[in-house]
Amino acid sequence: MPQAEIQPHLFVVVGGTGDLMRKKLLPALYHIAATKPLTANCQLLAVARSSDLNDNSLRDWATDALIQSGLLVPEPKQSPRECAQKWCNSCLHFLSIGEGRPEDFARLRQRIERLDRKHDLGGNRIFYLSIPPAAVKDTVAALAAAGLNNSPGWVRIVIEKPFGHDLTSARALNQAIHRYFDESQTYRIDHYLGKPTVQNLLVFRFANPIFEALWNRQHIQSVQITVAETDGVGSRGEFYEQTGALRDMVQNHLTQLLCLTAMEIPVAFDANAIRDEKTKVLRSVAPIASDAVVLGQYEAGTVLGRPAAAYREEPEVSSASTTETFVAMRLEIANWRWQGVPFYLRTGKRLPRRTTQIVLTFRCPPISFEPFGYCAIHSNALVITLQPDEGFDLTFEVKAPSEPFSIVTQNLHFRYEDAFARLQDAYENLLLDIIRGDATLFVRADEAELAWQLCDPILERKSQAHPYPAGTWGPEQARKILVPRGMTWYTT
Ligand code: BG6
Repeated sequence: MPQAEIQPHLFVVVGGTGDLMRKKLLPALYHIAATKPLTANCQLLAVARSSDLNDNSLRDWATDALIQSGLLVPEPKQSPRECAQKWCNSCLHFLSIGEGRPEDFARLRQRIERLDRKHDLGGNRIFYLSIPPAAVKDTVAALAAAGLNNSPGWVRIVIEKPFGHDLTSARALNQAIHRYFDESQTYRIDHYLGKPTVQNLLVFRFANPIFEALWNRQHIQSVQITVAETDGVGSRGEFYEQTGALRDMVQNHLTQLLCLTAMEIPVAFDANAIRDEKTKVLRSVAPIASDAVVLGQYEAGTVLGRPAAAYREEPEVSSASTTETFVAMRLEIANWRWQGVPFYLRTGKRLPRRTTQIVLTFRCPPISFEPFGYCAIHSNALVITLQPDEGFDLTFEVKAPSEPFSIVTQNLHFRYEDAFARLQDAYENLLLDIIRGDATLFVRADEAELAWQLCDPILERKSQAHPYPAGTWGPEQARKILVPRGMTWYTT
């Protein structure tokens, strides 16, 4: 796709001293500046409640964060610290907005206008809200009340997931945003859409006719989407207690993977055409039966050889919590392409290994000759691995050279790192798209609402979360949702 030129701008991060800024935004913005032909006039303003920081101390904090990120691209005769400090001094600023009263936002406006004049930024502004979901609505209104939704240049607003906590709140949030910002100015982030292999899914499908020809109910028996994590909730207990795996992972990341796997070919490779097709998938999902959803919660166990505490023992988690840390579900897409093909979605924390995979299993041959035995369940499967080692595998059957006659499953194997240099981080991709004004990889208002429409009934009738030992593939019940179709989870 032709890429728009990068224009001078001010990138304002509200919540600019938090974890997301330290771990993701700063390293991504630094790396963009170090490796892309950016104009010199890209300034970054971190806004936070804290009054303990100033420009200099923020730059020291950011320098440490960049060194820890391991992403520095030092110039000759420069230490990593000098390199990080140089970038921070050249573009990083801080402003405390205290309690966030109207006068604090008026000060924010003055600071923005001063930076704009001094660095000749043309009034172009990005407001990235890296704040708790409950604070988004008020912050959007406060920015608008200070007149910051208008400017002589362009203005974009970026909202992190989760976008609301159910359909009603997502609708209210969309309305609140649209009161001040147009949809074309609004970027709802789902970082899974920035992962290089997720983007490549569209290229893989629509640039390789051999796969597209088979991508339908005639040839595909089932689709599995797994996002497995070995980590527990760590220090995010308070957030997770209010969220759970359905809201944290299924409503957004897994739903996006589902849409990209199942969508039709868009009429153009642009933001609205692609998002139109994704929303059609969401509209076609048949009501999800209650016995097609299994929830789980991890108990103590062993993950990657290390002991792991139960979810209920994690910091800031209730000892009687019923929050789900695991979800497995079966759904069907009632449209021309997919009618009758089960889609199995699974995600969980404290599973045996970290992997994100989409597995398309092809139908067995109509007849199996006597010496061939029965068709193995995943004998022909296309396995798209999104992490940790991005690539594709295609399994197929061959005759083993030995006697007696036997068939074994083999694998065609492609890994990105064997073919290309380092893959760009998801945030780096997405921030660059925001800066360029390309909304293709962002969630549109109707898409966010439709995704909640899918999850809301499951949340409303929320069933019991079955316990599973940390380090296993979830509760036994998760296996059973595949049994009626004679399937198993693909776990190699
Ligand atoms: C986040 C969730 O959106 O995605 C986390 O809030 C989860 O709970 C994370 O761990 C997973 O992202 P990734 O890129 O590590 O698969």
